[in-house]
Amino acid sequence: MRTHKCGEVNTQHLGEDVSLCGWVHRRRDHGGVIFIDLRDRTGLVQVVFDPDTPETFQIAESVRSEYVLRVEGKVRNRPEGTINDSMSTGEIEVLIKHIEVLNESETPPFPLESDIEVNEETRLRYRYIDLRRTEMQQKMRLRRDVTRYLRNFLDDHEFFEIETPYLTKATPEGARDYIVPSRTHDNAFFALPQSPQLYKQLLMVSGMDRYYQVVRCFRDEDLRADRQPEFTQLDIETSFMTEGQIMAIMEDMIRGLFSKIINVDLDEKFPVMSYQEAMNRYGSDRPDLRIPLELVDIADDMKGVDFKVFSGPANDPNGRVVALRVPGGADLSRKEIDVLTKFVSIYGAKGLAYIKVNDRAGGIEGLQSPIVKFAPAEVWEQVMTKTGAETGDLVFFGADKTNVVNESMGALRVKLGVDRNLLEGAWKPLWVVDFPMFDWDDKSQRFNAIHHPFTAPSCSQDELSADPGTALSRAYDLVLNGLEVGGGSIRINRTDMQQTVFEILGIGEEEARLKFGFLLDALKYGCPPHGGIAFGLDRLVMLMTGSDSIRDVIAFPKTQTAACPLIDAPAIVEDSQLRELGIKLRKPTGQEDTK
Ligand code: AMO
Ligand code: AMP
Repeated sequence: MRTHKCGEVNTQHLGEDVSLCGWVHRRRDHGGVIFIDLRDRTGLVQVVFDPDTPETFQIAESVRSEYVLRVEGKVRNRPEGTINDSMSTGEIEVLIKHIEVLNESETPPFPLESDIEVNEETRLRYRYIDLRRTEMQQKMRLRRDVTRYLRNFLDDHEFFEIETPYLTKATPEGARDYIVPSRTHDNAFFALPQSPQLYKQLLMVSGMDRYYQVVRCFRDEDLRADRQPEFTQLDIETSFMTEGQIMAIMEDMIRGLFSKIINVDLDEKFPVMSYQEAMNRYGSDRPDLRIPLELVDIADDMKGVDFKVFSGPANDPNGRVVALRVPGGADLSRKEIDVLTKFVSIYGAKGLAYIKVNDRAGGIEGLQSPIVKFAPAEVWEQVMTKTGAETGDLVFFGADKTNVVNESMGALRVKLGVDRNLLEGAWKPLWVVDFPMFDWDDKSQRFNAIHHPFTAPSCSQDELSADPGTALSRAYDLVLNGLEVGGGSIRINRTDMQQTVFEILGIGEEEARLKFGFLLDALKYGCPPHGGIAFGLDRLVMLMTGSDSIRDVIAFPKTQTAACPLIDAPAIVEDSQLRELGIKLRKPTGQEDTK
């Protein structure tokens, strides 16, 4: 139907007859001449109609935005003064002799120019039109470039791409499962995989040596800008490699990806930081290293002060007291501080004490705050020295249970960094290692796995059993600009160790058999030492395209409430279908019959 793509016609084609297909991006009538910007995936080209060809001209007059056209004409130079340098086709235009309307279009629900804000619900409802926008086309193209690069890299390094099932059994990655009823097995359900974790481990038992898959994962969890209920992982597993070797090859891959696809040179060697150090300095296990602010522990100084809010947590082994220096922060108004106090309360903080440093050399007299009176001058002098505060700064304080302080002050650090434009450098990758194996959940009175229950500890089985709370794992997360883009570990490859971990997690022998019997069996048949990693592909592409949400790099994403407004899913199913599946619906929670 066409000889060229719209965005590819240029001065090389001057004088040639071309035929083009595309959508009417914009139509302008200029005193007897009609200009149409015709658009396809490759870009825009200006096509011109003059009254010398009356039949064609008449049709051109009738076309509207988003009509689909096929046109034939001759490429010519644009007249002097009308050249558009910002377009690849900006030097030429095509004088049309023949036009064919391939299809009409109703007026689109929103204009396609990229600088017009359209509400997301409408964009998702008409996603097929939204995806016509240049910005979205570029994002889809970059996503294609990313997966192509990654596949090529892994193919070159002898990884096999192997598919694993979607209809499977629960794989614990910390979220709820999406379940699928089985028609052929009474009362039984499949679960959609939260990740292919167990299959990839089984592939290592099979001697596949190196595996990868660009794979959909399903997690029913609270959604955020960087989370979708179905998302794509680049999932990887290897045998006979140490964590150092795995991290090195993955780092090469990510460095190559950024260099090749978006021309960004990441660090020669990514820094590595322990989980503990990350929590101490940034209150987060995925710190954004572009932000130069750090939390400073001051519990030692606050143990004896006359302020319960500080001395309580300072003397509590599960408490933490920190200071966060904001350079130049003395300009924060009372109102702004109130907003920040409200912000930290989302994370459970009961308040947000602060000191304005009006004159650092002036001792306690130079400090302005309602809390200054609670401690002697030497204590504040010590705190100011530790934080490195200078005249004109403001120091915030957080005091509470350690996790509340970490979450609230960690989030405050990020907010201040972004709001006050403190970001340094564009790209800051970081490996976080030495995670604890477990964290203790007070509510359920048991340990949870920090990664998944198949992660190997860095200690012996005896040491693990003796003190699970302090055991570290052989896991590694890749963090980029405050986002966890990948996570992996060396896995347990021995049945007894796996059983010990299940026991610590409160998974009894019977339950372990029922849920993971296949794995415990497989580990007995010559399971090699193995380990791997999975990257969040959507998150990587989101960062690489500078998008605010992963929804913008997924062709057909779900909304924040995990629904698809385009095809209207999820949807009610027919009674007959339910009957066939042996399913009877209950009333939603809260609306049950009281009888
Ligand atoms: P993990 O649960 O850390 O590890 O997931 C790996 C990466 O997947 C991305 N990710 C998500 N992206 C979008 N929406 C979500 N809901 C979502 N959840 C996770 C993150 C994360 O780093 N089987 C292990 C990997 C392994 O051990 O090899 C796993 O799934 O970028
Ligand atoms: P109060 O004595 O409750 O008026 O608190 C004095 C200051 O301490 C106020 O600025 C509070 O916001 C702050 N504050 C209260 N609780 C905490 C806390 N847990 N961590 C940090 N600051 C707090």
